[in-house]
Amino acid sequence: MGERFKRTLITSALPYANGPVHIGHLAGVYVPADIYARYLRLKGEEILFIGGSDEHGVPIALKAKAEGITPQEVVDRYHAIIKKSFEDFGITFDIYSRTSSEIHHKTAADFFRKLYDKGEFIEKTSEQYYDEEAKQFLADRYITGKCPHCGNERAYGDQCEACGTSLSPLELIEPKSAISGSIPVLKETKHWYLPLDKHEAWLKKWILEDHKEWKSNVYGQCKSWLDMGLQPRAVSRDLDWGISVPVEGAEGKVLYVWFDAPIGYISNTIEHSPNDWEKWWKDEKTKLVHFIGKDNIVFHCIVFPSMLKADGSYILPDNVPANEFLNLEGDKISTSRNRAVWLHEYLEEFPGKQDVLRYVLTVNAPETKDSDFTWKDFQAHNNNELVAVLGNFVNRVLVLTHKYFEGKVPACGEWTDYDKQTLEEFLQVKSEMENDLEHYRFRDALKEAMNLARIGNKYLADTEPWKVAKTDMVRTATLLNIGLQITANLAIAFEPFLPFTSAEIRRLIRKEHLNWEKLGRVDILEAEHLIDHPKLLFEKIDDEVIEKQIQKLQDAKKIMN
Ligand code: MF3
Ligand code: ZN
Repeated sequence: MGERFKRTLITSALPYANGPVHIGHLAGVYVPADIYARYLRLKGEEILFIGGSDEHGVPIALKAKAEGITPQEVVDRYHAIIKKSFEDFGITFDIYSRTSSEIHHKTAADFFRKLYDKGEFIEKTSEQYYDEEAKQFLADRYITGKCPHCGNERAYGDQCEACGTSLSPLELIEPKSAISGSIPVLKETKHWYLPLDKHEAWLKKWILEDHKEWKSNVYGQCKSWLDMGLQPRAVSRDLDWGISVPVEGAEGKVLYVWFDAPIGYISNTIEHSPNDWEKWWKDEKTKLVHFIGKDNIVFHCIVFPSMLKADGSYILPDNVPANEFLNLEGDKISTSRNRAVWLHEYLEEFPGKQDVLRYVLTVNAPETKDSDFTWKDFQAHNNNELVAVLGNFVNRVLVLTHKYFEGKVPACGEWTDYDKQTLEEFLQVKSEMENDLEHYRFRDALKEAMNLARIGNKYLADTEPWKVAKTDMVRTATLLNIGLQITANLAIAFEPFLPFTSAEIRRLIRKEHLNWEKLGRVDILEAEHLIDHPKLLFEKIDDEVIEKQIQKLQDAKKIMN
């Protein structure tokens, strides 16, 4: 952790509670954040890992309207589903809360009020579409009309989904209110703006000069925003779902969802540690790290830091290791088109196989560019790596230990040069993994962990203890002692990535607690220590199972067309 920091505050983007979570969410944000959190915990560091649902915003209000229920009912439903999916996949949040909570409403309103009182906002009046029948201003998404570019009759006020162009509501031809169907009129409305232009100078220095180490995809996006020049951004909206703007004369106005949501990280910290939350947010010795997807970069690197700076009492993120997007079988994942692998559905079809998905999503994570999830690839990683390398190695060691030593760890004799060479190789794995993990290179770190299992497999194949056992039990004891020590090391190395498997290995070797510091050591299991009976860690996934998933995706496509 070094001199500079004493503790780490890890946040992961708060998912919108308007649908369940899918593999893209897991690969982009939650698995990497969880790997990082687990790694630091294993090292015994002081950390706090924050999660929660983002429950405001127009799409949620729209969904409620479409279903004839309240927005609160919408978010109650999805918050529960999302929270359960994260628990099922072993994402170890210290708290998973929500932005419709009372404490969040208060925290966000107070945050706004302080900035308002300090004069950190500007007020501007502009003309926006108003629905005279429904008596309300219309958010961009609430207005439909003809696209000026392609003529699509059902374009939205913010975007035409037929040609992909982003629009402003004023560009729509023959605009119509999505609420009442009436023709909207332009009417004046007042809003509060965060003057990002005033923050540009320090942001430029802070990011472009002081944080050159940020991932190139993150740094590059920030640079292009900063090069274009920043504009004031509205932080309020005319809407009836959200946190009321806490100033007089703001009736019918709520905080913009992107203003209140990141404050959710703070409210959730307060909810978790009401008495000492400030050490997490206001002490320079805290390292703040935001895990997010690429569409969130500007909010976490530019807008939220400007809010924190405007307040003046908060620290800023040390890093924002944003990921790119995960595609599915060569095409975009889309919630609205039901083109996704939903986590709750995956678990119904692959019960107990959380780690297989965590593994595949990590080896193939969109760390520096978009990546693609395919079922064939999923099958190959399972069969060729988890089954054939990791599972096979652990199983062989356990089986042989039971066969020749009644399940007791045999005493280690003298090491040969070959043994020493093997142990040296696997000592290197520790520092390689640390270097990768500290720099948010989780794919590489996981490959190193798998390398450890490969080293083990090769060791068994080269030394052939089952043959040696015919003539030399002392040597056999040493071979299996080393095999068992490597097995214990695997439980440590894989814990951040495959927590269920790591727990199972620990159960098999009967070692409850293993911390990171033990990684690379060959005296973890003492002689005579009794281990459990072998049980396979993974099983092969057959072609039919994979074909079925591919078919399912194609069927979903047909229904949507
Ligand atoms: N709900 C947003 C999304 O899914 C993320 C919000 S992150 C937060 O894109 F910082 F605002 F919480
Ligand atoms: Zn269009």
